[in-house]
Amino acid sequence: MKSFGGVQALREVDFQIAAGEIVGLVGPNGSGKSTLLACLSRDMAFEGGSVEFNGRDIAKLRTMQVARSGMSRTFQNVRLFPELTVWENALLGRQWKGVGLRGLVRPADAATKQRASDLIDLMEIPHLTHQYAGNISGGQMRLVELVMAMMSNPSLVLLDEATSGVNPTLIESLKHYVKVLNQEEGVAFIIVEHNIGFIFSIADRIVVLHDGQLLANGTPEEISENQEVIDAYLGA
Ligand SMILES: Nc1ncnc2c1ncn2[C@@H]1O[C@H](COP(=O)(O)OP(=O)(O)OP(=O)(O)O)[C@@H](O)[C@H]1O
Ligand SMILES: [Mg+2]
Repeated sequence: MKSFGGVQALREVDFQIAAGEIVGLVGPNGSGKSTLLACLSRDMAFEGGSVEFNGRDIAKLRTMQVARSGMSRTFQNVRLFPELTVWENALLGRQWKGVGLRGLVRPADAATKQRASDLIDLMEIPHLTHQYAGNISGGQMRLVELVMAMMSNPSLVLLDEATSGVNPTLIESLKHYVKVLNQEEGVAFIIVEHNIGFIFSIADRIVVLHDGQLLANGTPEEISENQEVIDAYLGA
């Protein structure tokens, strides 16, 4: 449960995600999706309930401890350092390994550089390596954020509106990269999306939030035929 002053942002939300699964998290504006991601990644404290990750209760852990245990994320508003290059931003993805500020200012080791370079190649942006992050397109920024989130070899990645500000061609590419990471590295994803076409074509399962509560949880086929979901969200 999570409330902000009088606003009850999350009530009872109970769901599970299997290893290697891609779950789409959808629902109207203000339904609690970003709040839920923040509770899972422990960017936010919450009042009741529990979160178990890889068999461990993480509700009491701090953000860095959660990251170290294999969870990383991106944010609804892009969080890159615009005056650093794509390469420098990628290396800062080490934060998801629980590397603190002091570690981040030290030069990266060879394995870390190789990982960054492999991810930049996978996302087909090697030509951007030495560009300032502030000078690349919104879609390319989303790719750099995904590179950063993948630097720690996570088992679960949370993406908050990964397709917002991304052009249709790049959305198709993004879908491909997420699938490759899912299949080749077994990474599970929870993806918050308003782009229904994107999320229904990539997710194994869709979780629908409404007013901070779980409205539905099922396969994309089940969800697209669910009358309550159509009334509350899809039909809008
Ligand atoms: N920091 C905050 N302080 C006060 N209220 C907040 C805060 N963050 C979120 N809320 C409120 O909590 C509720 C859920 O917000 P949340 O951002 O989780 O929704 P969302 O599903 O991610 O919406 P969107 O699709 O617009 O991103 C909303 O009523 C919102 O106004
Ligand atoms: Mg949100």
